[in-house]
Amino acid sequence: MTVHFIGAGPGAADLLTLRGRDLLASCQTCLYAGSLIPEEILSHCPEGVELINTAPIDLDKIMDHIKEAHAKGHDIARLHSGDLSVWSAMGEQLRRLKAEGIPFSVTPGVPSFTAAAAALGAELTLPELVQSVVLTRTSGRATSMPETETLENFGRTGATLCIHLSIHVLDQVVRELTPHYGADCPVAVVWRASWPDQKIIQGTLGTIEAMMPEEITRTALIMVGRSLGADDFTESRLYADDYDRRFRPRGAEPRFPETKD
Ligand SMILES: C[S@@+](CC[C@H](N)C(=O)[O-])C[C@H]1O[C@@H](n2cnc3c(N)ncnc32)[C@H](O)[C@@H]1O
Repeated sequence: MTVHFIGAGPGAADLLTLRGRDLLASCQTCLYAGSLIPEEILSHCPEGVELINTAPIDLDKIMDHIKEAHAKGHDIARLHSGDLSVWSAMGEQLRRLKAEGIPFSVTPGVPSFTAAAAALGAELTLPELVQSVVLTRTSGRATSMPETETLENFGRTGATLCIHLSIHVLDQVVRELTPHYGADCPVAVVWRASWPDQKIIQGTLGTIEAMMPEEITRTALIMVGRSLGADDFTESRLYADDYDRRFRPRGAEPRFPETKD
C-alpha cells in the first residue's frame, strides 16, 4: 500500500498528467483538497472509490484516514492543487508518513504560475531584461513570512514576481513594490487560471488597484515585472544564425565538430 501524492494542476481537468490520471484510476481511496480540485478530475477514480474531502478536516484526521486505508491494504491517491512543491502542505504529511513507515510517491502537477503565464501568453524570463522568477506570497493568518523574504527584498532584484495567496492585500503589494519597479511596471492578475471562467486583469502598479473587479477575492495570482508585455527585449543567442553550438556547428573551428544535426 502506497500514498500517491498527485499534483492536480491549476484547475482545468485536462492539465492533469497522464501519470497522475493513471494513479488516480488505480487507488481505492482518494483524499482531495475540495476547495480547488474540480469534480472532473475525481471522475478518473475507480468505481466504488472511497472519496474524502480534506478541506474541512485537520492533519490528525487526515492521518487517521490514511492509516485506516493502509490497514485495509488500499493504495491512496492524495490530490493537491497545482504542483506539490509549493504551498501544498505535503511536507508535513510526508514527515508523518516517514515516521509511520508508510510508503509514498510524488507525481508533479502543473503549477498555477505556469498556467497564469500561459493565459497571458507570456515568457517570464526575457534575454537581458529579466532572468529570474520568484514564487512568493505575503503573510497570512496561518503562515507568517520569514523576516528576509519581504516583497521589498525580492523587489530589489527586479525579478518577475508571482505572488500567491495575496490578492486580498493587493494594496500592500502595490505600496511595497512601486518604489522598486516604478508605477509604470506591468502587473497582471490572473484569477482561476485555466478554469472555464478565468479572468485576466492587466495594468500597471499605478493602475491595477482601480481596475480590480470586486468579485476577485481568492484563487488569483499577482504577477509583477518588466517581462510582462515587453516587446523591446533582445533576441536570445541560442537561435542566432552565427551561434556555434552542439546541434548546429558554425564557423571554421566549431566547438563540437563531430556532432551531426
Ligand atoms: C495554497 S496555494 C496552492 C499553490 C499550488 N500548489 C500551485 O502549484 O500553484 C493557493 C494559491 O495559489 C494560487 N492559485 C492556485 N490555483 C490558481 C489558479 N488556477 N489561478 C490563479 N491562481 C491560482 C492562488 O494565489 C492561490 O491563493
